[in-house]
Amino acid sequence: MMPEIYVLRLGHRRNRDKRVTTHCALVARAFLAKKMYYSGEKDENLEIKIKGVNERFGGDFSIEYVNGWREIIENFQGKKVHLTMYGIPILEEIEKIKSFDKILVIVGSTKVPKEIYFLSDFNIAITNQPHSEIAALAVFLDKVFDGKELNAEFSNAKIKILPSKAGKRVVKLV
Ligand SMILES: C[S@@+](CC[C@H](N)C(=O)[O-])C[C@H]1O[C@@H](n2cnc3c(N)ncnc32)[C@H](O)[C@@H]1O
Repeated sequence: MMPEIYVLRLGHRRNRDKRVTTHCALVARAFLAKKMYYSGEKDENLEIKIKGVNERFGGDFSIEYVNGWREIIENFQGKKVHLTMYGIPILEEIEKIKSFDKILVIVGSTKVPKEIYFLSDFNIAITNQPHSEIAALAVFLDKVFDGKELNAEFSNAKIKILPSKAGKRVVKLV
């Protein structure tokens, strides 16, 4: 059984983070997370963009703004995994993490409040080097799903890409 994965993106800033948060959501969706919550500033454009991708490329991924991160973390019925370069290397904990049914993956933007480290069940590093929430999320999801997400088909898609060695091939399904 593959765990159900939810993502919480902390501290979105409409202007500074619009591309990074959009890319977190696109990675979450493409790599088979169910949903991404985001805190910080509410951003209609971000939500519209992700809904548009869903409508065209299918699947049932959703995005939801949350007013504060504490409530969602404290009320989440599953294990909470905070991705941080200060954490325990992923390969040391991945087998345990994969055994849970439901996981909330937390990624930061600017400075992550200290409490997040203590509210989380795991603080996990994707290398102990500084890089990016987008990369950390992608690697984490790939490890949890053992690469199975790479061949996933999305239901209710209006368009589908046909893999090709060169050029772009896209078919309309409806
Ligand atoms: C650009 S970093 C900034 C973190 C911030 N300076 C801090 O110290 O809290 C944004 C997010 O990327 C993720 N991240 C960056 N490097 C990581 C790593 N090596 N392992 C896991 N997550 C990482 C974390 O979720 C982090 O909160």
